Amino acid sequence: MIADPVFPFRERRERLLAQMLAAGGGVAVVPTAPERERNRGTLYPYRPDSQFFYLSGFKEPEAALVLIAGETPRHLLFCRARDGEQEIWTGHRHGPEAAAERFGFDEAWPMDQFDRKLPSLLANQPALWTGLAANPEWDKRILAALGQARADARAGTTTPRTVHEISAVLDEMRLVKDAFEIAIMRRAGEISAAAHCQAMRAARPGRAEYEIEAELLRVFRASGSPFPAYPSIVASGPNACVLHYADNDRRMLDGELLLIDAGCELDGYAADITRTFPVNGRFDGPQRDLYQLVLAANHAARAAVRPGNGWNAPHEAAVAILTQGFVDLGLLAGATENLIETEAYRRFYMHRTGHWLGMDVHDAGQYKIGGQWRPLVPGMVFTIEPGCYIRAADDVPKAFWNIGIRIEDNILVTAEGGEYFTDGAPRETDEIEALMRDRKRISVNV
Ligand code: GLY
Ligand code: MN
Ligand code: MN
Repeated sequence: MIADPVFPFRERRERLLAQMLAAGGGVAVVPTAPERERNRGTLYPYRPDSQFFYLSGFKEPEAALVLIAGETPRHLLFCRARDGEQEIWTGHRHGPEAAAERFGFDEAWPMDQFDRKLPSLLANQPALWTGLAANPEWDKRILAALGQARADARAGTTTPRTVHEISAVLDEMRLVKDAFEIAIMRRAGEISAAAHCQAMRAARPGRAEYEIEAELLRVFRASGSPFPAYPSIVASGPNACVLHYADNDRRMLDGELLLIDAGCELDGYAADITRTFPVNGRFDGPQRDLYQLVLAANHAARAAVRPGNGWNAPHEAAVAILTQGFVDLGLLAGATENLIETEAYRRFYMHRTGHWLGMDVHDAGQYKIGGQWRPLVPGMVFTIEPGCYIRAADDVPKAFWNIGIRIEDNILVTAEGGEYFTDGAPRETDEIEALMRDRKRISVNV
């Protein structure tokens, strides 16, 4: 849990305001996410908008923040008013006064005054900074306020002449994590790794994929995570070759592999881990050969993580290892260089080796700058997730049919290289087999 709710949110707002000021100043408007109906009478579990939460730490729906850059910067929050009747049904609301105090805002107002107040907050401001085309309802509200501000303008009053896409600044801020974020992400990695260990202990032939999913969810929830960061993939046998498999309803068979891609969300931050292991606790020959290949790609990608290296260096390192391995195992024929050049490896490795990780599983931030892969800098966090997916086909040795393997870790770029947050889940074959041998002593209801 967040010990001091004002730090680091106010500090992030100050950094945003400094960048706005350097670009001519203006007013920023950042709303949170709407509540969404699942079906009649039921809402989806609520999650605040990532940008709004990054700047506020405020988890209630129906809120927006307004930041004014200038000589005397102002931090304003609009949020739901206290409501004794509603709070009986849906729980505590901070209300503007307590929210301002607790989350470090200079002023706070009830949300139902937002549309009336925003035009006057836009008056005499050189620019509006907001996120456009993310939510049509908010686009309408903000443009209506801009129109009202123009209509209200009297002699001597001006209205914003420029609209800046605020994501351009916020995405870059979010890309390099601060110490507060790193501590949360390290813990999200630990919890998720523990869940993968529990899945390894619980797996055995005859059990259903959803029974293993239940073990993952239990560890997440029992560790304080409100929900997974994305739908868990628990894919046995041929299901592992379906990249976004999510049914999780098949019974696992002796001799198959189980691929699990699952991570918890903690205090708004995602973990994203994949492990692949034998349902019966022991890799057979072809499984072991392919697994060692993907593991070698994971090690090579990790070794390519250091400040100054380009974003693509880990991917290139993984592709070189995997392509050579596909040739050595008789899956591809030809010169390795050509197979890389023509991307022939994509038949068995069709996704990239990673993505930025943070509040969003596929987090904010550009991968290229000026057409070039951007250099890694300390504080960036991303995934390393090489894999291979071998479907049945006449020109593929039968021993490899229906094997899908991915080994996905979460890495922080440090001054020296990289730190894995996800070492708690074993990835070496002997470590996995040792952990699974232990499970025989643990009773599991089948
Ligand atoms: N779990 C989503 C991904 O690995 O990108
Ligand atoms: Mn991933
Ligand atoms: Mn994943």
